Amino acid sequence: MNFKLSDEHRLIQEAARDFATRELAVDVIERDKESRFPLRQVQLMGELGFMGVTIPMKYGGAEMDHLSYVLIIEELAKIDASSAVIVSAHNSLALWGLNTYGTEEQKEKFLKPLAEGKKLGAFALSEPEAGSDASSQHTSARKTEDGYILNGNKNWITNGSSADTYIVIAQTDHSRGSHGISAFIIEKNQPGFTIGPKEDKLGIRSSDTHALHFSDVAVSESQLLGQEGSGFKIAMETLDGGRIGIAAQAVGIAEGAYQLALKYAQERKTFGKPIFKHQAIQFKLSDMATKIQAARLLTYQAAALKDQGERYTKEAAMAKLFASETAMSSTIEAIQIHGGYGYVREYQVERMMRDAKITEIYEGTSEIQKMVIARELLKSLSS
Ligand code: CAA
Repeated sequence: MNFKLSDEHRLIQEAARDFATRELAVDVIERDKESRFPLRQVQLMGELGFMGVTIPMKYGGAEMDHLSYVLIIEELAKIDASSAVIVSAHNSLALWGLNTYGTEEQKEKFLKPLAEGKKLGAFALSEPEAGSDASSQHTSARKTEDGYILNGNKNWITNGSSADTYIVIAQTDHSRGSHGISAFIIEKNQPGFTIGPKEDKLGIRSSDTHALHFSDVAVSESQLLGQEGSGFKIAMETLDGGRIGIAAQAVGIAEGAYQLALKYAQERKTFGKPIFKHQAIQFKLSDMATKIQAARLLTYQAAALKDQGERYTKEAAMAKLFASETAMSSTIEAIQIHGGYGYVREYQVERMMRDAKITEIYEGTSEIQKMVIARELLKSLSS
């Protein structure tokens, strides 16, 4: 076992850190305030290969491994969690399924422009009545002679209005439960597909989140991703990978808040000495650093298992559960260390706390992660 990053991984980490410091930090406070999508930065990330990290070069990607992907998301999230989730939803939720289950024709047509960063992707599973209970899909895709007719509503969709290509999960045979669910590749301009207003969120405010509406959208056979009836499995596998991305985002948020708190603790003086010299503050920083490192190792482990072709459902859920709770506790402590200054926008840690909260909710709440872990524990008993 080797806990040192390779030279190649360190270079990727440095490139992402450099990009985030140069391009994301500049107006991160304003983008949060105005809920402004980082359009220019997303274009630049396309040029750097961040929009097709693990996709083969022949489909426009950078053909890196999942550990590289995690390192990139972590560095982006240290500075700007919104940009991190835009990149994570695009790579993990939209591109992974296309690369794994797409036909050659689908990869050429849909995957390539996405992986090159010329288009943006989104993944639509959640519905008003199908959040944690994801197989309870109401969106339907009725079979016709030459394809399907799609009807229904999706909500909480990251990259909702900025995306061009959407992986949409829908019921094709209600009588078959989770085996009657299929995945479709839908394009933004398809007649009958409309996008609801932008959600006014607590955090990750410069990523756009919307409801999607499908009213008699004609979908061709060539837009079916994988086999009919395999959509729930595709969605669950997609989320296993997505959870590694969110774990990396959470590690990044926690690390960003920790670094600001550590710096502030050395500058701010009370009772005649820097607050870092007070044991109360030292203990907080020690706890933060320890939890962040543990969260990071869980996340790297899940990514490494994925790279080795092993099962990683349990490890991804553990990483997301622990990292998201670490992001929440670390950002709250970072505010406490900053005192009153931590409560205002300029010092950034209040935004990081608002951004951290969603990591305990999206791509499966902490409670869902515990269900997933428990089911995997049971499986290991019976195998
Ligand atoms: N990989 C492969 N197959 C899987 C799987 C996995 N990880 N998990 C389940 N399956 C398969 C099962 O093996 C089973 O197949 P068989 O019937 O052939 O055995 C089938 O799927 C049904 O499985 P379950 O009976 O376990 O399904 P369930 O209805 O009990 O649900 C759940 C399981 C884990 C709770 C699931 O509903 C879940 O993950 N819920 C949370 C959904 C979620 O994370 N939503 C987030 C939305 S995305 C998002 O946030 C978007 C964004 O933009 C950021």
